[in-house]
Amino acid sequence: MMDLFSEIEEPERDELKALRKELEEANYKYYVLNMPTLSDREFDEKMHRLQALEAQFPDMFDPKSPTQHVGSDLGKKGFEQVKHKYPMLSLANSYSREEIEDWVRKLPSNAEIVCELKFDGLSISLWYEHGILVKALTRGDGVQGDDVIANIKTIPSIPWRIERTDIPEFFELRGEVLLPWERFEALNKEREEQEEPLFANPRNAASGTLKLQDPKEVARRGLDAYLYYMLGDNLPGTTHYERLETAKQWGFHISDAIKVCHSVDEVMAYIAYWDTERKNLPVATDGIVLKVNNLAQQEELGFTAKTPRWAIAYKFPAEKQLTLLKEITYQVGRTGVVTPVANLEPVQLSGTIVQRATLHNEDFIKSLDIRPGDRVWVEKGGEIIPKITGREIGLNSIRRADATLLVDSAEYAFPTTCPECGAKLVRVEGEAAWRCPNEAGCPPQIKGKIEHFVSRKAMNIDGLGEETIDLFYQKGLLKNIADIYDLKLEDIAAQERLGEKSAQNILAGIEASKQVPWARVLFALGIRMVGETTAKKIARVYNTIDTLQWATAEQLCAIEDVGPQIAENIVAYFNDMRNLEILERLRQAGLQFEGEAATGPQSDKLAGLSIVISGTFSQHSRDEYKAMIEANGGKNVGSVSKKTSFILAGENMGPEKRKKAEDLGIKLMSEEEFIEMVNGK
Ligand code: IVH
Repeated sequence: MMDLFSEIEEPERDELKALRKELEEANYKYYVLNMPTLSDREFDEKMHRLQALEAQFPDMFDPKSPTQHVGSDLGKKGFEQVKHKYPMLSLANSYSREEIEDWVRKLPSNAEIVCELKFDGLSISLWYEHGILVKALTRGDGVQGDDVIANIKTIPSIPWRIERTDIPEFFELRGEVLLPWERFEALNKEREEQEEPLFANPRNAASGTLKLQDPKEVARRGLDAYLYYMLGDNLPGTTHYERLETAKQWGFHISDAIKVCHSVDEVMAYIAYWDTERKNLPVATDGIVLKVNNLAQQEELGFTAKTPRWAIAYKFPAEKQLTLLKEITYQVGRTGVVTPVANLEPVQLSGTIVQRATLHNEDFIKSLDIRPGDRVWVEKGGEIIPKITGREIGLNSIRRADATLLVDSAEYAFPTTCPECGAKLVRVEGEAAWRCPNEAGCPPQIKGKIEHFVSRKAMNIDGLGEETIDLFYQKGLLKNIADIYDLKLEDIAAQERLGEKSAQNILAGIEASKQVPWARVLFALGIRMVGETTAKKIARVYNTIDTLQWATAEQLCAIEDVGPQIAENIVAYFNDMRNLEILERLRQAGLQFEGEAATGPQSDKLAGLSIVISGTFSQHSRDEYKAMIEANGGKNVGSVSKKTSFILAGENMGPEKRKKAEDLGIKLMSEEEFIEMVNGK
């Protein structure tokens, strides 16, 4: 009889669990990612159904159920520092068979060794209580780390909840957070287009991403994670390998490249295989980790102050080659930055032929003291872009091989004039780059600006690629972005390689670009340091070009993400008569110089104020308050600091924020007071 009953009950219990999961995710997507997945009505209906099911099955009560707490906006605040349950240690490194043999000699003679890939990202510690992910801590200083759970929850392969009865009350899984190569390359490409500094390697990119206070952006970047170590009391299994197998069954992302080895030969074969094969993996690895398999043996071996004795890393040798630096040439970018480039005797590195590498700037060249004619080291480690790491002073060096040659070898000097147009270069104080100031007359700058303008994220004009722009520039058809809108069918069609059909396509693309919204037009103008995101934020506050044109640097600084340098660039852009002429022509052509909704600052009542919003509100939503702050010239900031002017405090304000505000003596303002302040005379 009982059996029959439980069978009848089963589908509803499953429905209850599924609803909890769905609503939990919906809450997260709504409050943290600002990406609602359910309509309010659907959400309410599901919540009522969950409440009914929970009443029907009181034994399934769960204090963490979405019925028991309101959706949280965790993730918009700073990170909480949490002490690790077990210190997060690092690993001793080894680089050769001999060093591995030395380590193996100190192990029990029958010790099995688990070989794993050493993932090159950031370590993370995931805490599961009653099957629910409750904390995700970075390594920090090894003793305590930041709880970055809101960001970690954007990783699809990390489960938020394990629905099993055979799991311990508490367990911890450690692993590595990574930005896959493909995502890393796409992110850097995007940053290059927006003139933001590039990440040197996927590890830096993953680290920068995990520190963001904006889980929506984290989700967009696409982190992944591999887990490799389970800790806790009363865990199943007697070996490390079994534990990872168990974790895999519980739904965790565990690498398939794990192998139990019984001899150093086997270990070396594993290393040799993966040293090549790793190049086909979607994520970066920088070595192998060797771990004693038996957990009792692990315990016996124990730890030194910094590392376990039962594990060791073997690092792959960085791939580097010595080659001749034939010549240093220079590239001029669309904003006039002159970048020195090393032209090398072609050399094979990580499966590709390298013949060029960036030398970044004058300081970089001077710090390595490299000169054309030197033999230089080229490396390709975690980086996709090869880099020069030094020169060879030994016999291989042409310059140094015969000291008498030094007499003729002049110390390297960065050019003083633009290699493209001959203008005198300038170096802005505090910047490492030399720049060509001849914006309107330097060919790569002119072409670069046009290329940026037509690019996909800007005006998205199909058919106008780099080569066509170059051709039109040579023929005198394009000298600036406004000329695009004067192109005629017959002019285009008359060009070699371009028939009437392509001409029509180009013109159609140009026509369509007239509908591109104001924020993208602003980005397309190519104002220095105004990337896609910044342009959007500016366009939200200044919804017409006319208001933006008259904004002062101080006013611009009140916009989120706009610092003094960007503000000055914007002001300088609008102070240049040539730009104003171009803008007027673009206006005549019919480009969108106005946003849809007028959300520009309607007053300066909050000008210069940094305001934190915390808690839940009854009269307006958080986003509405944010818009009100910006509309009145204020700045909405995420965390409380000395600089915070006041906190717009709703119900259930976070206790940490409250304490911090008290400590710093920062005023809490109620919604009523705030509305009075903004609407009052
Ligand atoms: S085990 C107590 N396994 O390498 C030992 N670490 O250089 C715990 N790492 O901090 C670490 N892949 O961030 C382990 N398969 C792997 C790993 C791995 C990458 C990282 C980890 C650690 C660092 C040490």
